[in-house]
Amino acid sequence: MIIPNNIQNIVILTGAGISAESGIKTFRDQNGLWENHDIMEVASLDGFKKNPNLVFDFYNARRSQLQSENVAPNEAHKALATLESKFKGTVTIITQNVDDLHERAGSHNVIHMHGELLKMHCLKSLKVYSIKGKLTQSTICSCCRQAGNLRPHIVWFGEVPYQIDKIDEVLKSCDLFISIGTSGEVYPAAAFVSEAKNHGAITIEQNITPTKQSRQFDSQLTGPSTTEVPRLVKMILNP
Ligand code: APR
Repeated sequence: MIIPNNIQNIVILTGAGISAESGIKTFRDQNGLWENHDIMEVASLDGFKKNPNLVFDFYNARRSQLQSENVAPNEAHKALATLESKFKGTVTIITQNVDDLHERAGSHNVIHMHGELLKMHCLKSLKVYSIKGKLTQSTICSCCRQAGNLRPHIVWFGEVPYQIDKIDEVLKSCDLFISIGTSGEVYPAAAFVSEAKNHGAITIEQNITPTKQSRQFDSQLTGPSTTEVPRLVKMILNP
């Protein structure tokens, strides 16, 4: 794999695979999250309206697991934080993940296009608040001073991902696009590789196994993120 030494702007799309070795379940792998849940019951606005408690429980369980002592950033998250701090150009992470492992590893320039487990927002004012504990029907919203107006700050199926304009902007100017640990099953994230290519970017897919999108990439780095991402970062920093 050749990494030119004139790369200026790197965009990295991450998916559940980068957090798998930190102990966080992916969605579509063997015994993944979607195996034990009906997606539309726990990840859609209709599902939330029909059974808010089921949805609150689903995200409360994931939020508590994320904060447990056995979940921490892994070598892949840390390598991306090193890249951001040492690379002379820009490094933007667009993550589909709702965990905070990129931030805990030291990355700052992170776009959470599918929201964040440690946030909630008011249905009335759309104001976003941090949350570490349980969110329930009786959690009082500090802008409305009443219960029943808060939901997890997560983008559900059928909803528009966050910061799409900013994402379009960084894809337009990127000259290296790297996809890490995503199946490429969900749009618009699955279309980012072709957008980046249309603007002349070199594209690399890092995954533990080839995906249905693999042939769209200039090259593949196949293996666990914790070994392949640190290797890739070294190649980029020492071309
Ligand atoms: N290293 C690298 N890749 C891995 C590893 C690993 N250790 N373990 C799993 N993977 C890869 C799998 O091969 C798979 O391609 O991670 C990918 C996980 O795919 P999904 O479970 O579909 O997760 P993701 O692509 O992030 O899903 C996208 O779908 O359900 C929605 O909102 C949800 O953000 C999510 C979106």
